Amino acid sequence: MDPRQRLIVALDVSSSAAARNIVAAVGDSALTYKVGMQLYTAEGPAAVRELVGSGRRVFLDLKYHDIPNTVASAVREAAQLGVTMLTVHASGGGKMLRAAVDAAQATKPDALVLAVTVLTSLDDVDLGKIGLRGGVLDQVLRLAALALSNGCKGVVASAHEAAALREEFGNDFAIVTPGVRPAGSGHDDQARVVTPSEAIAAGSSHIVVGRPITEAADPAAEARAILGQIG
Ligand code: C5P
Repeated sequence: MDPRQRLIVALDVSSSAAARNIVAAVGDSALTYKVGMQLYTAEGPAAVRELVGSGRRVFLDLKYHDIPNTVASAVREAAQLGVTMLTVHASGGGKMLRAAVDAAQATKPDALVLAVTVLTSLDDVDLGKIGLRGGVLDQVLRLAALALSNGCKGVVASAHEAAALREEFGNDFAIVTPGVRPAGSGHDDQARVVTPSEAIAAGSSHIVVGRPITEAADPAAEARAILGQIG
């Protein structure tokens, strides 16, 4: 696989102008950009249309979580905007996941509906406090099973769960992993940070990288360095 197929650059900025600067600085080192709730809330669908219009792929990360009909309606709008990937919360349940997948299928069949399993900011203690016993890995596996059995073609999960997901469910789905730090960035001694190559080795199919690229003095060079680590 071309390593550029695996790299997603997160545009966590507050304006289309700032997003445009990053995209221009990255150049052709990345094909896919993540639009999350910050940029989407600030600029709305225009930010997505601009990226799609300029030939970039968009991962719309709004983590939909509502009743099935509402989520299906939102997914339809996202697919009409031309997004390539979008997120829903797996904990919205099987009916919601199926409705999201069906809506994407009917509107833009190649759009990938990704189910968010457990946010990487949560640990076993946090899960206990929202009434979930059994820990992060159990919950990730349970939600991934629900997502895949309801037609989702991928999940969002940390690299720490990727190997278990591959073992349990095989290779025929995407694992999109955020919280990745390039080797040698000075952060790689931190406990839960993984490098791009570690994420891919663990079974992640895609990595999401934000600030290490977007705040780099030379974003294109940083993106190329990451591509070199996963190529
Ligand atoms: O930290 P960085 O700037 O690379 O984050 C890029 C994206 O990855 C953010 O938009 C955030 O949503 C996501 N992220 C995450 N879990 C982390 C770190 C970042 O989901 N531990």
